[in-house]
Amino acid sequence: MPESYEGKTAVVTGGASGVGRCLCERFARAGMQVLMADIEAPALEKSASELAAQGYDVIGVEADVTSPDSMTALEAEARRQFGNVHVLCNNAGVGIKEAQRRVWALTPKDWQWGFAVNVMGVANGIRAFVPNMMQHGESGHVVNTSSGNGGLASMPTTPIYAASKAAVTSLSEVLHYQFLMESAALQAHVLFPGPHLVNTNILSAMRNRPDELRDDDEPVAYTTMSDLATASGIKNMKLTEPEEVAEHCYQGLREGNFWILPASRAGDEKLRQRTESILERRNPELPA
Ligand SMILES: NC(=O)c1ccc[n+]([C@@H]2O[C@H](COP(=O)([O-])OP(=O)(O)OC[C@H]3O[C@@H](n4cnc5c(N)ncnc54)[C@H](O)[C@@H]3O)[C@@H](O)[C@H]2O)c1
Repeated sequence: MPESYEGKTAVVTGGASGVGRCLCERFARAGMQVLMADIEAPALEKSASELAAQGYDVIGVEADVTSPDSMTALEAEARRQFGNVHVLCNNAGVGIKEAQRRVWALTPKDWQWGFAVNVMGVANGIRAFVPNMMQHGESGHVVNTSSGNGGLASMPTTPIYAASKAAVTSLSEVLHYQFLMESAALQAHVLFPGPHLVNTNILSAMRNRPDELRDDDEPVAYTTMSDLATASGIKNMKLTEPEEVAEHCYQGLREGNFWILPASRAGDEKLRQRTESILERRNPELPA
């Protein structure tokens, strides 16, 4: 029988908007206490007060996943407010202004920001929360948000994003193995939102880019999902809603799935082609 989440505690980074906000709402609807964490204070306050007004047991706490100190403080605040943490979603992520840019044209600051949020943000979350989650010994889950792009097979147009999500998949696999090696009551999961581009504000992520990691020349390649689809050669412009991703993630936790992949097999072909090219020692072809 799937475990009950009633009365347990979830922490979601990037909880102010998009997939993160919907995860918070889904967990709250399951009777959980939810700490919504985000760097964007006004959006966080708005989302947290909207969910609280619906009667959910949620609080918003400002936190920056790129900062180990901020994540340590977040963990302490979560325990102070709610006690033991049972579900940690390392969900905060950013899209870089990189569509159509060549790998060699991206700047060191582009790389630093993309990896600071998408990769170190996950590592910092694990480092801050997992020791106490291991110690309290109750069952729990760590969910890292990857992406089909890079996390399974790379699109040719988004070098930093794809590379960062490949890292998220890899470190999630290692976390899974290490929980097994420790016979931990914790389970690792890796979430792939989709099957289509998800209808969120991720393309305006530049709003959260710290000044010290901005370049003088900062043209934004695209600001809408439709621009991204065009730049990336995606023909099917159907979008997935973040609520669908959250529901699917929640069910994936209940079913104990490490790979929380979309039910639709639409993206499998790219993964199959990539895997076959590796196994057959064949050079990859440009994706159609
Ligand atoms: N939208 C898609 O099509 C799609 C597809 C696959 C994977 N994803 C992944 O889903 C996750 C959620 O993205 P989304 O689409 O909901 O975008 P979003 O922009 O709506 O949400 C991301 C949230 O992360 C927050 N954030 C950014 N930097 C932060 C930092 N340093 N510290 C704390 N919070 C920070 C933002 O303020 C924002 O609220 C990301 O990891 C993203 O890469 C999205």
